[in-house]
Amino acid sequence: TITVDPAARGAAIDDTMYGVFFEDINRAADGGLYAELVQNRSFEYSTADNRTYTPLTSWTVDGTAQVLNDTGRLNERNRAYLSLGAGSSVTNAGYNTGVRVEQGKKYDFSVWARAENGTTLTVGLQDADGTLATARTVAAKGGWAKYRATFTATRTSSDGRLTVASSAAAALDMVSLFPRDTYKHQSNGLRKDLAEKVAALKPGFLRFPGGCLVNTGSMQDYSEASGWQRARAYQWKDTIGPVEERATNANFWGYNQSYGLGYYEYFRFAEDVGAMPLPVVPALVTGCGQNRAVDDDALLQRHIQDTLDLIEFANGPVTSTWGRKRARMGHPEPFHLTHLGVGNEENLPVEFMARFKQFRTAIEAEYPDITVVSNSGPDDSGSTFDTAWQLNRDENVAMVDEHYYNSPQWFLQNNDRYDSYDRGGPKVFLGEYASQGNAFRNGLAEAAYMTGLERNADVVKLASYAPMFANEDYVQWSPDMVWFNNHASWNSANYEVQKLFMTNVGDRVVPSTATSTPAVSGPVSGAVGLSTWATSAAYDDVKVTGADGNTLLSDDFSGDASRWTHTGGGSWSVQDGQYVQTDEAAENTMVSAGDPAWHDYDLHVKATKRSGK
Ligand code: AHR
Repeated sequence: TITVDPAARGAAIDDTMYGVFFEDINRAADGGLYAELVQNRSFEYSTADNRTYTPLTSWTVDGTAQVLNDTGRLNERNRAYLSLGAGSSVTNAGYNTGVRVEQGKKYDFSVWARAENGTTLTVGLQDADGTLATARTVAAKGGWAKYRATFTATRTSSDGRLTVASSAAAALDMVSLFPRDTYKHQSNGLRKDLAEKVAALKPGFLRFPGGCLVNTGSMQDYSEASGWQRARAYQWKDTIGPVEERATNANFWGYNQSYGLGYYEYFRFAEDVGAMPLPVVPALVTGCGQNRAVDDDALLQRHIQDTLDLIEFANGPVTSTWGRKRARMGHPEPFHLTHLGVGNEENLPVEFMARFKQFRTAIEAEYPDITVVSNSGPDDSGSTFDTAWQLNRDENVAMVDEHYYNSPQWFLQNNDRYDSYDRGGPKVFLGEYASQGNAFRNGLAEAAYMTGLERNADVVKLASYAPMFANEDYVQWSPDMVWFNNHASWNSANYEVQKLFMTNVGDRVVPSTATSTPAVSGPVSGAVGLSTWATSAAYDDVKVTGADGNTLLSDDFSGDASRWTHTGGGSWSVQDGQYVQTDEAAENTMVSAGDPAWHDYDLHVKATKRSGK
């Protein structure tokens, strides 16, 4: 029985409560949301990004060509360029299976070239079955200049290749091919199907650009003084201005990031989908498994100034230094930044808080209306009374970013997590969470959990599932909300749950009580799985009982164990009434086919680690 008192007034729910978190992980940006079809367009790939990379990764050469890094370069922030021999060509393989084009659609090609007067560049699109568009020629002459051409695809293909051939020796850089049809037709824009999936969620906010992407690496800048630092931390100023002047960088997740999708594009995207922008800047204390404070105080001061400049870039008038740069990029109106995160999953709470306070003091002095968001360190699914949280409370922090990734069971069992949070303490930004999987039951567990977030909407002010995107051929992290390749994208069950909540945000919680957990009818699943991380284990007395106490499945292993099947290998047998792994195989999951109908259930099992880890 559910009892609802319509006269009672629960917490008000903010329109911004549910949002999205975009991190460039799993090639979510280049090869994903950023619509550029050419991979390694500026020949900057290097072993600093990934040890398998070369400056010609994703390119093949017919004839002679070499990548140079010398004073003949396009500009000092774009160090490498291609020197193509007379009568030679280079071909780009795009992402996944190739360059994707759709019949009848237009594609904008551009290239920066330096060549003798009278040099002809011939540009073609083809796949194994032949041409995909009529070839174009451009006449290049003199010093570095940008040349353009437009293709109309005559066939649809996901395996296309883009070829640039030169009649005479030529230097090339920033070889680019963009679909004309980007999201909202923005230039340097976003892949439409992926952006539309985000827009369909009607997100209240957009957290970006990470994640571990943000708080790792050195804050040294990209300059001669720093030795043209590769693998430096994510610094927003690297990501704005003309794309050919955005120095590419190593991505924490093991590839190169072009920064074609940079801070201007993030702000613009937030605006286009009606979301509050919520950037995260590094706090100069590394997290994400790296347990050391990096960089010195001089850098810290520079970085605090960078953060103030970021706020000016977002909100400042066109007469201000950084507001003018925003206007020059095409957006004289402000982006209405109100919240800003400092740090992500910082491992060293004391060092972090010392630096966070310096950021907050500087920001509040100039911009008292900005909410500066702190964080509670890595995985905060345990106690809320650990050092990081205590420091946040002591320092009267306005809002704390919490993260956790757990089993569906954890989400079902912790629906009441925020019921006991201090109403007078910092508000919660649940910036990253997910149950471990993309199956229906994961979505269901997350939905159940979200009712607990919503019930506590006076404390939990913002919440976003993570990560958002994964290119199926370049996965560093799973599960993810939306999956894609170079021609298709598809939603997870988790996405549908987010959409359900995000497109139906209420105004106010109506308090209710239930006499018991409502039963869900109908058999949905017929299996029980047990996972072990031990390399040798023994199980006994497995028993699954429903909430009503009925036994749904039991096995004391007095007979054979034929009902159990395994993934992950290993040799298992019944010995003396126990189910025993007799080798040192890798971690293992065993599954019982059979009895249980869908139910709220308790699992009882005796498990013994026999040896190994
Ligand atoms: O969402 C993936 C990663 O999980 C994020 O980069 C990090 O913040 C967390 O550990």
